[in-house]
Amino acid sequence: MLPLPDGPTDACPPPPPLLRPSPCPLCKSSIMSALLATAVRRGLSRWAAVPSPLPPGARHHLAASAASGGVAAPAPAPAAAPPPPPPRRRRWYPTTPADLDTVAARTLQAGDDLSSDHPGFADAAYRSRRAAITAAAARYRWGDPLPVVAYAPAETATWTAVWAQLAALRAVGGGGSGGGAAAAAMGGAAAAAAAAAAARGRVVAPEYAAAVEGAVAEGVLSGDAIPQLGGVDAWLHDRTGWRVRPVGGLLSPRDFLNGLGAKVFHATQYIRHPSVPGYTPEPDVIHELLGHVPLLSIPAFAGLNETIGIASRGARDDAIERLARLYWFTVEFGLLWGDAAAGGAPYRAYGAGLLSSPGELARAVGLPAPPTAEGEDVREGASPPANPEPDRRPLTLEAVAEVVASSYPVTSFQRVYYVAQGLEGAADVVAAYARQVQAE
Ligand SMILES: [Fe+2]
Repeated sequence: MLPLPDGPTDACPPPPPLLRPSPCPLCKSSIMSALLATAVRRGLSRWAAVPSPLPPGARHHLAASAASGGVAAPAPAPAAAPPPPPPRRRRWYPTTPADLDTVAARTLQAGDDLSSDHPGFADAAYRSRRAAITAAAARYRWGDPLPVVAYAPAETATWTAVWAQLAALRAVGGGGSGGGAAAAAMGGAAAAAAAAAAARGRVVAPEYAAAVEGAVAEGVLSGDAIPQLGGVDAWLHDRTGWRVRPVGGLLSPRDFLNGLGAKVFHATQYIRHPSVPGYTPEPDVIHELLGHVPLLSIPAFAGLNETIGIASRGARDDAIERLARLYWFTVEFGLLWGDAAAGGAPYRAYGAGLLSSPGELARAVGLPAPPTAEGEDVREGASPPANPEPDRRPLTLEAVAEVVASSYPVTSFQRVYYVAQGLEGAADVVAAYARQVQAE
């Protein structure tokens, strides 16, 4: 899942070594003098990298001149052609999976570094376990064997519990997790009719349901064991050419999106705290492997991800923020229009944040919330808020301006979901906006 804050991704070159800085003439402190010089150099570097906007005073001057209506005024000097703006210097960005060795260790939060409201904050054993898993991810370099995690029975139990809840929701209207296979076994028109009926009732994107069923049939995904990244990576690469790379925690939006441009998905391997299996405040192995990976095996959806990633290359910070919001409201929490007119589900989920959260998936598509496990710590945000009916708005080209300007909660259910006309429709909207960003 994409993290919120844009972290320390400044790619400005490091300051030159401070060799024998001259003492400050006022305080005689050579250290202060050197720090000041470094700050000035860095500031100038930023100034030169991005064309400066017109100063407010200059705008006012132009407006006043236009409004003067030709009233006598000192004749202006012949206007010289303004010098062309300096070309915007693009910062370095990774374009290959190997390049990601440079950014993958720049996690904003990793290991046992948990916030005080994290369900595992007070659990020393859980924090230690996470630290061990994330340390292996931090050591990974492109070309190494993907880390294998020997998951403990308690971790597998968490996976199995969430798998069962999500499988039940995926099967709504679809005749069970094997509904597609059963329809295919009928053959001919009967199979087509059964498949169409199953698809109408789905509350998840039919392409996603089919991808999960395929992964299960091939032994890549299972409710009985947490998959290892190696098998998932090979399966995914065979379908769309994408790769999965281990990561120790949250990356900055820039680094994460740049990875998508290289057709690499950064995936955590630790699992959420067992006290709240239906909720995680951060991406975990359930979110990555049950949410994102099956979607990335679908060519149209993989292309949508890659489009956002390519648009993020060398983009300004404000463009990265807009792309991150577009990613959030589509890849993480996107909905599709269903087939209510034919008696089917009115909405279908394709966002990975929905497809890995039983509670929010049910709420987003208008189903009753699934029962929580006995003894589960239902935190604020893990249960529906007072108004259970979220706001659902069409995802159109016109709506993108609103999408990229919208804030969103990260520790509670979403207030707004944007609904697209199929995965191809979502991809078209994203591609159109990505072209705008690249033209900026
Ligand atoms: Fe995600």
